[in-house]
Amino acid sequence: MRIVTRPDAMRELALRARRSGETIGFVPTMGALHDGHAALFARARGESRRLAVSVFVNPLQFGPTEDFERYPRNDLNDARVCRGEGVDWLYMPTPDQVYPQGFTTRVTPGPMGDTYEGALRPGHFVGVLTVVLKLLETMRPHTLYLGQKDAQQAALVGRMIRDLDLPVHLTVSPTVRERDGVAYSSRNAYLTSEERLRARGLPRALRAARQKARQGATVRSILAEATRTLKRESKPDKIDYLAVVDPRTFEPIHRLDSRGLLIAAVRIGRTRLLDNMSLSAPRS
Ligand code: PAJ
Repeated sequence: MRIVTRPDAMRELALRARRSGETIGFVPTMGALHDGHAALFARARGESRRLAVSVFVNPLQFGPTEDFERYPRNDLNDARVCRGEGVDWLYMPTPDQVYPQGFTTRVTPGPMGDTYEGALRPGHFVGVLTVVLKLLETMRPHTLYLGQKDAQQAALVGRMIRDLDLPVHLTVSPTVRERDGVAYSSRNAYLTSEERLRARGLPRALRAARQKARQGATVRSILAEATRTLKRESKPDKIDYLAVVDPRTFEPIHRLDSRGLLIAAVRIGRTRLLDNMSLSAPRS
């Protein structure tokens, strides 16, 4: 495995591989790697000749009062995980390399970037799209792998790829969960053991809602079921949102005619947890 820190060196490696006809699969991350990331690596590994991973805690996607400083960082362990997963190139630039002095350009999402996560974290998706575009330019992958765990992020990156005619294929991989249903997330490390138990209520609420949807319930009663289960099992400090949306546009839907996505963000103690589940109405 090559660990690369300089953008020009990374681009050169990628371009050379492309010239030799090798395909490149790329998984961007912010490190603190867990089994959710590893599943993306395994999938990319199976589908591409070269597996490229980036570890970069992107300052641009954190708000001024958010957790950029305390975000978990563990480069040594990340490198070990990547080696074990057969990563060819681990790209770990510094903020100055990605955003040199004088850097001012931003990628702005359309209206889909202003709702839900975008509404609660102003500027977040501008930071995400800007860094993803820069990383694509450096890594030159054939395929970009993102997780369904961050569904709105994946939808916005897909939109950017189409809108800006970027020559890359996007693959979105299913959410990987711990045995008790809680989705792996680097931020789970913030939870105390009592909070970690309460976190189980979030996937339980989503599953209860999915069950309701299968029985043909209305969106209103699907949301009521999710809210009830969540409050009972998680005692969340705050529900930031719980909504049923169109998975492509993130517009709220009021009738579940075909497929909908139930999205949720809750606070347990000081930690924000995100999760989502696809819903389908019973076949008529
Ligand atoms: P990060 O939170 O490290 O996540 C990196 C990738 O792993 C994302 O595509 C995310 O959706 C996926 N992922 C995280 N947890 C997962 C889980 N439990 N199951 C499946 N996939 C999971 O998302 C980011 O970093 C950043 O915003 C980034 C795209 C790297 C831009 O900075």
